[in-house]
Amino acid sequence: MKTPLAPTPPMGWNSWNTFSWNINAELIKTTADFFVESGLLDAGYEYIVIDDCWSKKERVNGRLVPDETKFPNGIKEVADYVHSKGLKFGIYSCAGTHTCAGYPGSFEHEFEDAETFASWGVDYLKYDYCYKPKSADGENLYKRMAMALRNCGRDIVFSACNWGSDNVHEWIRETGAQLFRSTGDIQDNFESVKRLAFSQLGKQCYSGPYCHNDMDMLVVGMHGNSDNSWIADVVGGCTDTEYKTHFALWSIMNSPLMIGCDVRKMSDETFKILTNKDVIAINQDIECRAPYCIRQWNNPENVFALVKPLHGGDYAIGMFNFGDKRNEMSLQFFDIGLPAASGRGLEMYDCYEHKTIGTFTERMAINIEPHDCAMFRAKVVKL
Ligand code: GLA
Repeated sequence: MKTPLAPTPPMGWNSWNTFSWNINAELIKTTADFFVESGLLDAGYEYIVIDDCWSKKERVNGRLVPDETKFPNGIKEVADYVHSKGLKFGIYSCAGTHTCAGYPGSFEHEFEDAETFASWGVDYLKYDYCYKPKSADGENLYKRMAMALRNCGRDIVFSACNWGSDNVHEWIRETGAQLFRSTGDIQDNFESVKRLAFSQLGKQCYSGPYCHNDMDMLVVGMHGNSDNSWIADVVGGCTDTEYKTHFALWSIMNSPLMIGCDVRKMSDETFKILTNKDVIAINQDIECRAPYCIRQWNNPENVFALVKPLHGGDYAIGMFNFGDKRNEMSLQFFDIGLPAASGRGLEMYDCYEHKTIGTFTERMAINIEPHDCAMFRAKVVKL
């Protein structure tokens, strides 16, 4: 029996956020090198994914072929290199006639493209939704490519990317996809991060093992550096505090963790955010339980907690301040299922300090800086 793919949210890197059309074999290989040298692989990041713009503008003999100025020795050679580093390799196509950037899409070529990808050693396919013929049913197109991939002779994670349209969360698991984009494209600013996170609160229950809610690639560490001015948006991007909060949200909300910055140039702070093992462990919890949101009447607006049951009895508790000033957040344990009369409290392990900070009863109140967050792993203990 083969093991099923993607029990927990995939982790890796994708070329789009920073490089968009500006991709080539050298970039992919040096990124793979850096994944190993820097410790990103050890932290759990394993997929190196080439996004749009890798192919020629036209098919050749019906097949997709790489642009030889970008990939002079083809895609297989790059995939082999990535594999030789102990990493997995991903590529991109589209359910429509063209990709979003205007390259050939896989519409009515699904089975031969899946075969091509398998022959190159592809382990992950991101599958976009541009240029879908009006008469075609999108749900059916995802079913088609899923079937092609599931029968191409190679394990290929299917990453559906229809930006949350057509109520994708209601039907995507049935297609066989392992992840599904549930949001529009991210931009490197905190408003975008907030908007995407809020849009998914309440829809978390549709995500689970083997089929994950993809809130888009991370902008952590980009600091406004992108060849794509729409993504870079505002020069400077986010602050490190905002990137920390972005990463915490994507982690506790069970999104895949696909890095989007140029990892070869990332700062120590970016590396620290991306490799926080206690936060990653919450994202990779084997049960993939949806978090629920607590907003308390006595807390300021824009302050809330996300609470996620973890395998083995602990709870992940993220506390977020989306407000523009320092705010207090207080969490009443009664609201998460722990009345004082139970004679139990919560032993709080701080995922940023990497230590237990004490046992709390009835409630916990902390001050959170603007756009900052706190993340705990709480253990229920007898008092
Ligand atoms: C869409 C997707 C992005 C990216 C681009 C590529 O906008 O949502 O993530 O793949 O297409 O053109």
